[in-house]
Amino acid sequence: MVMTREKAHERNLALDAIRVTESAAIASARTMGRGDTHAAEEAAGAAMRRAFASLEIRGTIVIGEGEQEETPQLFVGEKVGRWEGDDQTIEIAVDPLEGTRMCATGQPNALSVLAMTRGGHFFRAPDMYMDKIAVGPAGRGVIDIEKSPTANLQAVADAKGVYVQDLTVVILDRPRHEALIREIREAGARIKLIADGDVSAAIATCREEDTGIDMLMGTGGAPEGVMAAAALRCVGGDMVGRLKPRNQEEVERAKRVDVDPNSTLSLDDLVSGELLFSATGITDGDFLKGVRFRRGGAVTYSCVMRGRTRTVRFIEAHHRFDQRPNFGLL
Ligand code: FBP
Repeated sequence: MVMTREKAHERNLALDAIRVTESAAIASARTMGRGDTHAAEEAAGAAMRRAFASLEIRGTIVIGEGEQEETPQLFVGEKVGRWEGDDQTIEIAVDPLEGTRMCATGQPNALSVLAMTRGGHFFRAPDMYMDKIAVGPAGRGVIDIEKSPTANLQAVADAKGVYVQDLTVVILDRPRHEALIREIREAGARIKLIADGDVSAAIATCREEDTGIDMLMGTGGAPEGVMAAAALRCVGGDMVGRLKPRNQEEVERAKRVDVDPNSTLSLDDLVSGELLFSATGITDGDFLKGVRFRRGGAVTYSCVMRGRTRTVRFIEAHHRFDQRPNFGLL
């Protein structure tokens, strides 16, 4: 059956997206605990790239593994999918292995993530830091990156109808967060320090009944900020950010891609259009289990979120290596 042009544009790409993150998750999960971050990243990127090749989409990577001269795979500007027909082009943001060290050391919350937008835009986040605040739907519209952590805590507590003391804030455990942690402690809120993985932490704010997490605050990777924003937008959460170049070289890096290095960013600035977000667990985490290997195959746990309908699907997939030779040991 030939799809009409209009129908092709309405196609729900959820399963396609999941197949891509599943592939990267299985490949990188095989390297878990080896202590080799490079091998883990390499495996995830190569598997994701192979998986894209079978998709009937006209996709362009806009957040990827680096610039073309820095990486052979999934570089910014790379065309992925089968560039045939007259399907609308899709912008794609990927992080085949979010939480590289967590995979390399077998710790929680390593994910493979992918976001797509049709008729929209991802902020062209340069490889640098970003100050971030993320909240679930109950705190939507009240966070402000220009205001102090204390003011943001109070605003979210008011919006949720709880005491500041009862909020739980996730922060990356880094020396740069010393002042932030002190201020949050003084304000009285609870803190969960994590070793890595602020994408998973941002998404956890939208599943507070399972995770107990109300907010993410602090400075992390800017590309990871865009990935998290895509997920939050799909489920009605909120995120604000501010680029944080550390030196002149990073200022120039931002300018080279036409980005104001002092940008403050709302959720609308970070992501727009008809969004889809997919994540597959690599190691066990706050909202997804990691890959389980078993005789002749593997089981993966994924989540796909669709912005248009706000549908969130959790998919447990049982893969057989005899049917999917790509998933076996190559
Ligand atoms: P990688 O998988 O790219 O290593 O990212 C892990 C991560 O923890 C992100 O979740 C976070 O945004 C960033 O690193 C923080 O950067 P840094 O480790 O330099 O503090």
